[in-house]
Amino acid sequence: MNDRAGSMRDAFLLEDGVAYLNHGAYGATPRTVLAAADEWRRRLEAQPVRFMQNELPKRLRATAARLAAFLGARGEDLVFVDNATAGVNAVLRSLELRPGDEVLTTTHVYGAVRKTLNYVATQTGIAIVEAVVPFPVSGEDEIVAAVVERFSPRTRLLSIDHITSPTAVIFPVKRIAQAAKARGITVLVDGAHAPGMIDLDIPAVGADFYVGNCHKWLFAPKSCGFLWAAPGAQARIHPLVISHGYGGGFLAEFDWTGTRDPSAWLAVNTALDFVDTIGADVLRDRNRVLMLEAIDLITARWGTIAGAPPALLGTMAAIAVPTDRGRFRSAAATWDSAIAIHDYLWQEHRIEIPVPLFNDRLWVRISAQIYNHIGDYRRLADALAA
Ligand SMILES: Cc1ncc(COP(=O)(O)O)c(C=O)c1O
Repeated sequence: MNDRAGSMRDAFLLEDGVAYLNHGAYGATPRTVLAAADEWRRRLEAQPVRFMQNELPKRLRATAARLAAFLGARGEDLVFVDNATAGVNAVLRSLELRPGDEVLTTTHVYGAVRKTLNYVATQTGIAIVEAVVPFPVSGEDEIVAAVVERFSPRTRLLSIDHITSPTAVIFPVKRIAQAAKARGITVLVDGAHAPGMIDLDIPAVGADFYVGNCHKWLFAPKSCGFLWAAPGAQARIHPLVISHGYGGGFLAEFDWTGTRDPSAWLAVNTALDFVDTIGADVLRDRNRVLMLEAIDLITARWGTIAGAPPALLGTMAAIAVPTDRGRFRSAAATWDSAIAIHDYLWQEHRIEIPVPLFNDRLWVRISAQIYNHIGDYRRLADALAA
């Protein structure tokens, strides 16, 4: 396994000597996929009018159809956006919400989405409610109960993360969406990390809107997100940029939001080819086995815990930082400590890893991707134990 991972590292542009344990942040794109994006840009520039007006509409739809099929969906329900943030913003800023309405999210919500929710609240007079989902967390039931108990007669929208950013927990979104829909609540799932990390059937989630990134776990170039909308919900939303397609329906409105570089979206084909050459299941299983091995190694060395059991983890995990031993023993649970630990790991050990502060505790969030091997995690375990 590790020999294969070693050779796969050459498929990426990652710097030598770095233990890159933060695939979750921005992904990392294989050379072949970057070359494909370059090639699309060249084709565009060879005859910009022909490309933009004749080729792009068809190619974009064909790529959307292939991506949708990978996600269990139909191409006509999926549009490309620049990133998950743009998709979430398009939904939150389109829905008609009135003063007194409540939007429910959780304490694990991605920080930029929390800011978007607060912005919408100041614009519309709605209230944002955050369900407190425990962390560490022991199982699905705890998550479902924490969310469901915060539904109220005023809840209009549930904005829920599929795989949480600071804590790396897979939320049981299907169960939660079902409970919300039974109460007539609109459901938006932020699945920024899900495509490629877990086996995903988007329509089966049962949400009205599902947003994802291809530049994280699907190996696409940056600026590649998507927005899926259930057929009956499509007329309720519009892109953040209104352009020629306005009034023409979901696809027309989102497919053209002004002149822009579509190369990242078109290169999704090559990103999916990259996944196919390894096998989506093989890739996921390999990375998950590596991550579970890494959790055992690190928690044993540090005498700490992972924040969630394996059943709630994909290929990322939050592990508590040891504060009773090692270089950061008795570090206060503050953002200053988090930054100091991050910078120490990078500057002294060339380990790139996020150090979130969550529930008054410092964590590291490990990622496992095809270019990682167990030695990367041993290096992390040693660095903070020393
Ligand atoms: C849950 C979640 N939502 C949204 C985002 C934002 O992704 P992007 O910066 O690609 O918009 C992230 C990024 O890590 C995330 O974890």
